[in-house]
Amino acid sequence: MPLPDEFLQELKLRTDIADVISSYVNLKRVGRNLVGLCPFHSEKTPSFSVSPENGFFHCFGCGVGGDVITFIKRIENLDYIDAVKLLASRAGLEIPTDTQSKGLSELRKRIFEANREAARFFHKALYSQDGVHALSYLRGRALSEATIKHFGLGYSPPSRFALVNYLRAKGFKDSELVSANLAFTTRSGHTMDRFFDRVMFPIIDVRGNVIAFGGRIMSDEKPKYLNTSDTPVFKKSSNLFALNFAKNVGENMLILCEGYMDVIALHQAGFQNAIATLGTSLTTEQAMIIKRYCDTVAICYDADEAGQKATSRAIGILRPTGIDIRIITVPSGKDPDEFIRSYGEQGPVRFRKLLESSGNDVRYQIQKVRKKYDTQIPEQRISFLNECARLLAELNSDIDADVYAGELAEELSVSKSSIKNEIEKYRKRSFRKESKERIRNIQLKTSAANDRINPEKHRNLRAANAEEAIIAILINNPDLADTIMSRISADSFVTSFNKRVFSVLLERVKEMRSVSPMDISEAFTADEMSSITSILSSRPRENNPKRAIQEYIDILLEEKEKISPEKAASASDEEMLEYFKKLRERKK
Ligand code: GTP
Ligand code: MN
Repeated sequence: MPLPDEFLQELKLRTDIADVISSYVNLKRVGRNLVGLCPFHSEKTPSFSVSPENGFFHCFGCGVGGDVITFIKRIENLDYIDAVKLLASRAGLEIPTDTQSKGLSELRKRIFEANREAARFFHKALYSQDGVHALSYLRGRALSEATIKHFGLGYSPPSRFALVNYLRAKGFKDSELVSANLAFTTRSGHTMDRFFDRVMFPIIDVRGNVIAFGGRIMSDEKPKYLNTSDTPVFKKSSNLFALNFAKNVGENMLILCEGYMDVIALHQAGFQNAIATLGTSLTTEQAMIIKRYCDTVAICYDADEAGQKATSRAIGILRPTGIDIRIITVPSGKDPDEFIRSYGEQGPVRFRKLLESSGNDVRYQIQKVRKKYDTQIPEQRISFLNECARLLAELNSDIDADVYAGELAEELSVSKSSIKNEIEKYRKRSFRKESKERIRNIQLKTSAANDRINPEKHRNLRAANAEEAIIAILINNPDLADTIMSRISADSFVTSFNKRVFSVLLERVKEMRSVSPMDISEAFTADEMSSITSILSSRPRENNPKRAIQEYIDILLEEKEKISPEKAASASDEEMLEYFKKLRERKK
């Protein structure tokens, strides 16, 4: 019985690959990944790596890899269904029979309803006797009546049972309230409100469902904000606050802030394209969502050091999407909300000025480097230029690099060509390093024809490399699926394993607009999954996927065309027919 999609998505939502693997392997965070000693071969230095963002693991030592289901299959020696069962019970989910799968969508519906009722309840409470101080808190933060209504702000009463009692009376079961994370079960078995005596911010998805809440305490106690944990209807890493409003503004630009209050203050000041993450740093998933709604994003984080660090990180996450990035720098250590408020009626005009004078991400990075050096001193000037050249070498566009090289040349009275030479040097160096690594990788994997999974690879290195690049780009940039499909189909693939991977992926992308290793796990064996994740982990993310995809498609089509008579013995009938057809066409 194939498992319903709904259930698998739910399992995916509730299963944290890092969490699962941590119960078998001691993992340490290194950058975006977690590393540890590989449980599948014996080693002394860790080469086993887990990428929570992309949902897969990979061992650079023995080549084993896959999604979380593959991990369980291997380590517990289970088949697919039993591995899913184990993960489901770990996540508190039941494997659906036909009626149960209805149960899950039923539960989601109940959670949406409970959330909507809760939002109404909190909003009403704000205007009750209980809510007097909460209302004056919000007014004290300069929010107008209209803004409070627009965002549906509310107040959770101090009694620990106010919401639970209210929703019970409306017919909700305790289990539903707990699933919605509106309540929790105490040790003594009582169901208790999760939010009390807090100002409540409903979080609404782009379809208008209330999916979660943020609750702010009105004193200096900690935690300042309490947010809904992930539930069957909510994943904090793939939603954005106020996107439900911002998506309708039609500005082709979104302003990305850190906090709920920043967003609300900006909307009140007329900037209704402001959004925020939900108490975590920006994720790749969120970056892709942002890219879906606009061509330019203006990052407007707090002016403090933490905010600046978060800005650099966000630039790194956003750049691969190809979106234009601007950085709004709020002066004198303020956050956007404080900035606007400090100018009273002039706030909106002042912020508009900030927005208009915002530089792009490259100027921002150069400015940050500039602060490290005293360019009056020759040695430091050279270091400054070197560091800038390295920065500019990473840009996708030659025109961009040229422009900034020109600006720097003028600023420091050096020749532009010397800066461009320097940039070229860095480019060459990193390109050489990359291609060397890549070829070495391929050689390692294909030498001795030890690739049992894709035995055709060693005879078709160039094609296989292009195929793998296309597969990786499709997974990392599902928005390019249409572009890809407009130029090639699975039949354009040369090696049959990659062809199969590509067609399974394409099917999933068509259904869901995005795909992760876990979505295709059912269609492949554990060894095949290792091969797929090794494709992903051996390739750096493309800086300019739009350009790269066209190049790799060109290579693949070229190679496909080249399938020569010597190789005919191993070519399929279909391939031969196509070859002869091409030959005939050329002769005409
Ligand atoms: P105000 O202090 O009310 O102005 O809030 P803010 O919106 O300016 O928040 P701040 O800049 O302090 O934090 C940014 C965002 O991080 C908040 O909107 C929350 O989403 C999140 N956040 C802040 N504090 C906490 C916390 O204690 N716990 C959690 N889970 N998230 C928090
Ligand atoms: Mn603030």
